[in-house]
Amino acid sequence: MFDKVNVAERIFWIGVNDRRRHLFENIWPLPTGVSYNSYLICDEKTALIDTVDFTAGNSFVDGIEKYLAGRPLDYLVINHMELDHSGEIKEILQRFPDVKIVGNATTKRIFEAYFGIIENFLDVGRGATVDLGYHKLSFTLTPWVHWPETMMTYDTTEKILFSGDAFGCFGTLDGGIFDDEINFDFYSDEMLRYYSNIVGKYSPMVQKALAKFADVEIKCVCSTHGPIWRDDPSKVIGLYDKWSKYEADAGVVIIFASMYGNTEKIADYIGRKLAENGVRNIRIHDVSKTHISYLIRDIWKYKGVILGSCAYNLEMFPLMEQLCRELEHTGVQQRKLGIFGSYSWNGGGVKNLLKFAERIGWELVSDAVELHGIPKYEDLTRCDGISKSMAEKILMTE
Ligand code: FEO
Repeated sequence: MFDKVNVAERIFWIGVNDRRRHLFENIWPLPTGVSYNSYLICDEKTALIDTVDFTAGNSFVDGIEKYLAGRPLDYLVINHMELDHSGEIKEILQRFPDVKIVGNATTKRIFEAYFGIIENFLDVGRGATVDLGYHKLSFTLTPWVHWPETMMTYDTTEKILFSGDAFGCFGTLDGGIFDDEINFDFYSDEMLRYYSNIVGKYSPMVQKALAKFADVEIKCVCSTHGPIWRDDPSKVIGLYDKWSKYEADAGVVIIFASMYGNTEKIADYIGRKLAENGVRNIRIHDVSKTHISYLIRDIWKYKGVILGSCAYNLEMFPLMEQLCRELEHTGVQQRKLGIFGSYSWNGGGVKNLLKFAERIGWELVSDAVELHGIPKYEDLTRCDGISKSMAEKILMTE
């Protein structure tokens, strides 16, 4: 058992690390794990803000009992019902049957679908507050960051925002729990991957949520995943503002689908020409090798996207099709797009990538190029327009 981790006067972090799970939501890879953060306030009244994933087992609620030392748990505040945070609610209800559940009407609906009817419920959806003694909690509905019931809890005494998934991050807390105890470089890419994979689809709602806190003093951000931001909360708030406005860095990600290496040759050629034209951030990924989670992250990271596909049964390559569908689904905007491909006996890759371009509405920087057979050098030079135009547009807006 660790020493108590004080977030502020009478507020404790009681999160857990998950290093066993391979896939978050059974889809997104967790090479460096993930933390589920929960917070306990031991004031004149006691309150728990969110729980953790059920994989924590009894140790989570055992720990709460130790902290409470025989006192009752008065409130369970539910900012978000997804099971990585509500997984221990059943155990909490068994150990503290008189606990009052704090949420909103949508929380209640989802709660009852998971855990049965609740009588002891406080609906704070219309502005109610909870007075714990020293700490006073107010609540702000932030629907669709990440589910419809999502809300955030603000401690008006210490100016702490308990933000749910917002400002969260993949990666376990390996000793350092606060932003001044970690090297942010380790977390920065994983934070963007978390945003783009989990929250990005709801970017317009993130903007609405940020607007609600524009005039609120926030000294500390306590998310349900990743570090606590007490040294410089404006850093992550700024990142969320940037990402939810679809702003990106000057760089290009090239993603290709290639069965026998011919489309890959084109990708490498375009990448080399981008570098000759001055682009310094270039990533090239094989759609069959790199998990879609990282492809989406890099597309969220860079302004330029170049997609290349071989033809496959008169269509684009299936994994490229999956990527395109997911990009439409997440709705990332304001990207510059280049398209290329190759075919042996009929087309299909480029034709369908162009349909994707129309649907997603990104600016096509140059005519698409589709090469026949094994590309010769003079064939490859047909792609020079894509590299040149992409570099100009990326660097122009730097
Ligand atoms: Fe971390 Fe939407 O749950």
